[in-house]
Amino acid sequence: MKVFKEQLALNNYLETQTVDSIGLVPTMGALHFGHLTLVDKAVKENSCVIVSIFVNPTQFDDASDLNTYPKTLEEDLQKLTPYGDKILVYAPDVKDVYPETTSSNQYTFGLLETTMEGAKRDGHFQGVATIVHKLLSGFNPTRAYFGEKDYQQLCIIHQLVSQKKLPVTIVNCPIIREKDGLAMSSRNTRLSEKERAQAALIYATLNKSIALKTSTSIEEINHIVSATFNQNPDFILDYFCIADAQSLQPITTINPSQPARAFIAVKLGGVRLIDNVNF
Ligand code: PAF
Repeated sequence: MKVFKEQLALNNYLETQTVDSIGLVPTMGALHFGHLTLVDKAVKENSCVIVSIFVNPTQFDDASDLNTYPKTLEEDLQKLTPYGDKILVYAPDVKDVYPETTSSNQYTFGLLETTMEGAKRDGHFQGVATIVHKLLSGFNPTRAYFGEKDYQQLCIIHQLVSQKKLPVTIVNCPIIREKDGLAMSSRNTRLSEKERAQAALIYATLNKSIALKTSTSIEEINHIVSATFNQNPDFILDYFCIADAQSLQPITTINPSQPARAFIAVKLGGVRLIDNVNF
């Protein structure tokens, strides 16, 4: 498995290879089984796969979140070693990605970026779009793979690709869950044993909201979800939102012909966790 710190070196290497298609799996490292399912899919569908590992500073609005984000390059490389020559790893320093200023480009995503994560994390999606744009235009992949856990991010990336007319297929990959339903996330490693057990409440509550769908109004479901987390002082509910699956705008009534998703963000012991389900 070859590891590159510079985009130029990786592209120079690719020029010496016969490559039919390139799959890109962008990550911020702290790899878990969920990431590996993306890599597996990319390896099946492409003759060459690039896995990027880069904790992108411009998508963090909170310095302490950036500083405490798990950085585990050695372990990540070990997890990728079994893929051998099937993958190339791009693990750059900040200077290779942001040679001049470490700042975001400016994009316009309208209401897609002002709701939920966008409302809570100032500039987050500008930073995500900047790094994804740089990776897509830097490596020209045939396909790029993203998990649905960051569903709003995925919608923004589809917008980016369409606005900038980038010749890439974005592949949406399902959320991978632990046995108790907690969505796999690099942030889960920061939970204590007790918090890790408590975190199962997030997916259980999402499922409860689905179960209430036929008998209860959205207003009442919102109220029940808030009450569930208010009763448990270890959780702070950031938002719960049932929204149109495409526009991500909150819906007030259930319409069977309008695909919807339920989204949630909570803080548990200082760790911010997000999840979503088809509603
Ligand atoms: O989802 C993530 O891990 C990151 O936001 C991404 C897409 C790798 C960009 O830094």
